Amino acid sequence: MSRRMTLLAASALAAAGSLTGGQAVPEAGDPSPTWARDVAPILMSHCVECHRPSEVAPFSLLAYKDAAKRARFIAKTVTARIMPPWTPDGPRDAFVDERRLSGEEIATIGRWAETGAPAGDLSAAPGPPAERGGRWRLGPPDLVVRMRRPFAIPAGPDDTYQVFPIPFSLAAVPASVLAGARIPGSDALAVAAVEVRPENQRALHHADVFVDTTGEARKREAAEGGNGYASFGTPGFVPAAYLGGRVPGTTPRFLPGGIAVGVMPMSGDIAVQIHYHATGKAESDQTEVGVYLMREPTRRMMDALFLRSFKLDIPAGAPAYAVEDSIEVPADCILMSVFPHMHLLGHEVHAIAQMPDGSVRTLIDISRWSFRWQDHYFYREPFLLTKGTRVRCRWVFDNSAANPSNPYSPPREIVFGPNATDEMCGLLLGVIPMNLGDESLLREARIRKMKETIAELTPEERARFRWDDAFEEAAGLN
Ligand code: HEC
Repeated sequence: MSRRMTLLAASALAAAGSLTGGQAVPEAGDPSPTWARDVAPILMSHCVECHRPSEVAPFSLLAYKDAAKRARFIAKTVTARIMPPWTPDGPRDAFVDERRLSGEEIATIGRWAETGAPAGDLSAAPGPPAERGGRWRLGPPDLVVRMRRPFAIPAGPDDTYQVFPIPFSLAAVPASVLAGARIPGSDALAVAAVEVRPENQRALHHADVFVDTTGEARKREAAEGGNGYASFGTPGFVPAAYLGGRVPGTTPRFLPGGIAVGVMPMSGDIAVQIHYHATGKAESDQTEVGVYLMREPTRRMMDALFLRSFKLDIPAGAPAYAVEDSIEVPADCILMSVFPHMHLLGHEVHAIAQMPDGSVRTLIDISRWSFRWQDHYFYREPFLLTKGTRVRCRWVFDNSAANPSNPYSPPREIVFGPNATDEMCGLLLGVIPMNLGDESLLREARIRKMKETIAELTPEERARFRWDDAFEEAAGLN
């Protein structure tokens, strides 16, 4: 992979100390662990979802020989908790699909590496788990759309934000499925999930999936005469729906309890907004999106509140530049998920909820942020934020030369902006209003908050962004 990753790993390893000083020392009399009996089961359940051919990791760990030749490197990487990738320190055991090895598992891998990575009885080794859903992690989608043409990603230096309108129709979906997903009293269909499958995993940083029923996205594409059109921030039109997306580390999933992510019409355009990294050479991509309709009665829709700041001006060399924001929850809501966001200088993010009764709950704590591994974290047990709860978030950036992900050497002043090398900070709260009918309170709160956030900016700060006309309206919608 890139030089930056190796550097990142190296610095974290240095901080974590050496194997021989840690828990991985063989205990006298312990039989040494073998691949077949002890190590393969750990790797099959915690590593090969990514470390297998055509997945995101740079090498496969399916076979004994693949793992054995890297045994010491694997041991160091898991001891330093670089792998499996999981950045939240807390709250512990609170999130779905938490990727964390136990101390015992780490010690087993360490002893195996120290004792020469013995194979054991290979005929008894566990085989690889079935690929989840084959090509699609969530199984065959009800609708698949693909960018109409391959997109030629510019080599750089700037990243590319491009929106691709793709016409769709649900006419081929069986009538029984459509009937099950239809929202009573309307033509809208409830969407259970979307899955984004990039063709170019290396260049695609993130993708957001919108629905356009106005034809505006196609008009903008035609006006630019190209493949898609450039747009940063909003998709450049007021979307009929935002259905979800993908960032590095995201696991596509269905929500429990009859909760839909949004609604879509029978036909229109899916507009995929993609952030491509400038990799330094010309690249190509033709991403696909799979859409899954609700198969059980829809009880609620996911909704959202946002915390963020555009007032970012991080001095060169500053090791711990902090920004804060807060929002008052306007109605009783179930908190389903949190989704923090920063770029390369991001170092820490901490969010808490201060309930009206004075109690405080930690929502997320990350003290070694990684731009590569940002997830939308879903709580295993979603919980109530009563009306009047104040959610506070604090983001910390490290713009010193000691930050191995700093894109500039020597460090430069960095302000808010669209490129991965500029900065951003945000926290999305995935919420469901307890009472049907309170959705409008959430929408009003979002619009009010966005207006306040913009009103705080100086003219100079405002001039840094490429706002488009739809921004304020869209900000209230998605
Ligand atoms: C969610 C996907 C995912 C999982 C799960 C995962 N890896 Fe990785 N791994 C990656 C990617 C991608 C890289 C390339 C470096 C990066 O992007 O962080 C990587 C890199 C590595 C490296 C090289 C580290 C470096 O500094 O270059 C090792 C060793 C490794 N993984 C071992 C493991 C082991 C062992 C497990 C299970 C305990 C595991 N990984 C689980 C995705 C994953």
